[in-house]
Amino acid sequence: MNIAVLGAAWGDEGKGHIVHHLSKDYDWIVRFNGGANAGHTIYRDGVKYVHNLMPSFDWRSNKPKAFLGSGMVIDLEQLHKEVTTLWNSHSDYPSRVYVDPDAFVVLPEHKEEDKKSNGHIGSTNRGIGPAYTAKISRKGLRVRDVMLAADSTLDTKRIQEMKRMGVRFKGLMELRREMEDSQLLFEGAQGVMLDINHGIYPYVSCSESTVAGVYSCGFHFAKPEKVYGVAKCYTTKVGEGPFPTELSGQEAHDLRERGNEYGATTGRPRRVGWIDLPALDYACQKGGITHLVLTKFDILNGMERVPMCVAYDKPPTSSHDFFDAKPQYITVPGWKDAKSPDEDRVIPFIRKVEGLTNCRVSYISCGTDSKDIMPW
Ligand code: IMP
Ligand code: MG
Repeated sequence: MNIAVLGAAWGDEGKGHIVHHLSKDYDWIVRFNGGANAGHTIYRDGVKYVHNLMPSFDWRSNKPKAFLGSGMVIDLEQLHKEVTTLWNSHSDYPSRVYVDPDAFVVLPEHKEEDKKSNGHIGSTNRGIGPAYTAKISRKGLRVRDVMLAADSTLDTKRIQEMKRMGVRFKGLMELRREMEDSQLLFEGAQGVMLDINHGIYPYVSCSESTVAGVYSCGFHFAKPEKVYGVAKCYTTKVGEGPFPTELSGQEAHDLRERGNEYGATTGRPRRVGWIDLPALDYACQKGGITHLVLTKFDILNGMERVPMCVAYDKPPTSSHDFFDAKPQYITVPGWKDAKSPDEDRVIPFIRKVEGLTNCRVSYISCGTDSKDIMPW
C-alpha cells in the first residue's frame, strides 16, 4: 500500500520525524513538491540532521530509496551538500538517491530575487518563488537542461560529481515498472495552509502541498491509499499572514521556548498558538487527508488544562475566511507525561480533534526518538 504524509498546517509539523520512522517499511520515499525551503528535522542515533531537499529516508535501513520528483525545484548546490553528507556517512548511500531530470532548478539569481521581492511574505529566501515563476512563465531550466549544457557550468559539474558518488538521474517513465511493484511513501513539504491553490493566499509558498502534488508529479499509477496529515498538538507558523490562534507576549514566549520553536531552515523564531481545529478541518478537506498524526505532545506535558480552538465566529469555507476569523476556545484536561503507557489523559484532546475533523488519529508523537512515535 502506498501512503502520503502531508503537512496539515503551516509546515514544521514534524513530518520529517514521522516519515523517517515509517520509511523502513517502504521501498521509495518520494519528495514531490517544494525545494530547499523545507527543513525536515531528523534524529539518527541521537544526531540531528536537517534535510532540505533529500527525502527523510532512514538510510540505516537497507530498504528505502529516495526519489526527488519533477514537481520540485532543486538547488543543485544544496543537493550536492546533502549528497556529500550522505556519502560521508557511507559511500554506498548516494546510489540509493534518484533525481527526476524533469525537475526545475533554482539558480543563484532566483535566491537574490527572492531576497529583494518576497520579504512581505516572509520567504525563506531559498529562491522558491522566482524558480516556480520561471517555470510557469516558460523560462525555467530543468535539471535535464543543466545535464545537457554544452558549456560546463558549476551546476553541471555538481551533477557530474553527484553521479560519481552514485546518484542516478532518471525520470519516472524509466522507473515506473520498478515503482509499480513497490511500496511508496510520498513525503509532502510545507503544509496545506501554504499550498499555492488552497493555502492562505498570498501568504503561501509556490508549490502543491496537498495530495494533488503527488499526481501532478506523474504518479497516477501509484495512488496513495492513506493520506496522513501531520499536525502539532499546538500550532506554529513562520512568515507573514493570518494566524487566528496566535499567542503574544509571555504566553507566546513560554510556548516557543518549551517547544524550541525556531525555524530549521532559517533559524527564525516561529509564531506560536494553540491548536486550531477549524483550520485543521479545512486542511484535511482541502488536502485530501484521511488520517492524522499529532506530534509534540511532550511539549505540553504538565499543563493543568490545554486550550483548543474549536470554532470561529463562522466556519471557514475559503482561505479568505482566515483573515478575520475570531477563534472560540475550550479547554480540556492536560496530561502529565504523554509518553507514559497508562497516560489516558490525552484521550479528551484526541477525541476532540477526531470529532471536529472527521479524521482518525493514527499516531501520536511524544519526543524526537523513533520509539516516541506511538500508534494510536
Ligand atoms: P517560500 O516558500 O520561501 O517562498 O516562503 C513562502 C512562505 O512559506 C513563507 O511564509 C515561509 O515562511 C513559508 N514556508 C516555506 N517553506 C516552509 C517550510 O518548510 N516550513 C514552514 N514554513 C515554510
Ligand atoms: Mg520545517
